Amino acid sequence: MYTINIMQSLFILGRQPALGLAELESLYGAKNLHPAGPQAALLDVEPRHVDFNRLGGCIKLAQVQTELPTTSWRDIESYLLKSVPNILDSLPEGKLKLGLSTYGLRASASEINASGLRIKKVIKEAGRSVRIVPNKSASLNSAQILHNQLTSPLGIEILAYREGSKTLICQTVAEQDIEAYAARDQNRPKRDAKVGMLPPKLAQIIINLTAPTADATVLDPFCGTGVVLQESLLMGYSVYGTDLEPRMIEYSRANLDWLHQRYDGNFGIQLEPGDATTHTWKPAPSVVAGETYLGKPLSKEPDETLLHTIMQECDRIHRGALSNLHKQLPQGTRLCLAVPAWKYKKGFQHLKTLDYLRELGYNRIEFRFARKEELIYFREDQLVARELVVLVKN
Ligand SMILES: C[S@@+](CC[C@H](N)C(=O)[O-])C[C@H]1O[C@@H](n2cnc3c(N)ncnc32)[C@H](O)[C@@H]1O
Repeated sequence: MYTINIMQSLFILGRQPALGLAELESLYGAKNLHPAGPQAALLDVEPRHVDFNRLGGCIKLAQVQTELPTTSWRDIESYLLKSVPNILDSLPEGKLKLGLSTYGLRASASEINASGLRIKKVIKEAGRSVRIVPNKSASLNSAQILHNQLTSPLGIEILAYREGSKTLICQTVAEQDIEAYAARDQNRPKRDAKVGMLPPKLAQIIINLTAPTADATVLDPFCGTGVVLQESLLMGYSVYGTDLEPRMIEYSRANLDWLHQRYDGNFGIQLEPGDATTHTWKPAPSVVAGETYLGKPLSKEPDETLLHTIMQECDRIHRGALSNLHKQLPQGTRLCLAVPAWKYKKGFQHLKTLDYLRELGYNRIEFRFARKEELIYFREDQLVARELVVLVKN
């Protein structure tokens, strides 16, 4: 059992918590990470040292203030009524905005709203004016936090997170910027429904799973329209993109030019057409990150024969690409590939290549806090999921 520290970071994880845990473990190491309940993780790093905007698998970052030996909302409210006035002196002048979010506690939205009004009263008595953001559910959503600027100097979001028989009281420091993600995703000039739309958040997770060093060059050998390249550039890495289709290289170039006009940074970009099974990459990259070829698009669940044909084609391309990369990558190079896994009957059919990674000269990395079966990005309406495979070249 670890001790809770004030100043520790609490992350609220995304829809598939294992992806967020693997990403944090990859960037900060397992010994600093402590999963907390089904939806969160604590990290022994202060929030100010966390580059939150690069984390695709985390929704919220909060700083732990204290731990209460109770899970009763009434007790928690009593604590907040006493403690909130103490933080007011450290806040700048002006009207405050305050929100309350709870996780895992038995407190309805109306109980939380009633507590909010009582907290408003004590803040007013302390001589400050405040607007309380009303809860529609137990926790405020990202849009409410962003629109009400609860992470700005005049904003406060208090987060009460149940951890077993205790409650962590935290203050939110950062919230995922859903508008910035949407702008990067939807406003790019070149998109292509046929090669699929990799969500920027998933691209960030893929890159983070390669744990790149600060001066890394990220290679995506199946770069498509360049989402992984885009997110790598925004994290400050140089990028190298190749794709079988010259048209995709043109699309990536147009998208990265567009990005360069909107975001500051020293963009190091190398793009060229190339078949991943035969191409020579010069110079060799530091890490390899990408969503690979997922097979031809499907409109309904394939029958056994079609599935077999698709899986064979994908196996040939993946095996070819991995053995070609193996000849060129320095030993110890880390790769994260999002490869297809097909929804079939009640489970998934995995890419055959995953059965002979050792023979191809790679070790598959296992995470302490995320089983490999959990590292499958999937939405109910999709027929092909993306299995995140993290490898090291032997
Ligand atoms: C699923 S898309 C990748 C999408 C990309 N992650 C993006 O953000 O747009 C797969 C890409 O692999 C490319 N591809 C297929 N076979 C290939 C091969 N043998 N070598 C290189 N690229 C290949 C396709 O042209 C396609 O652009």
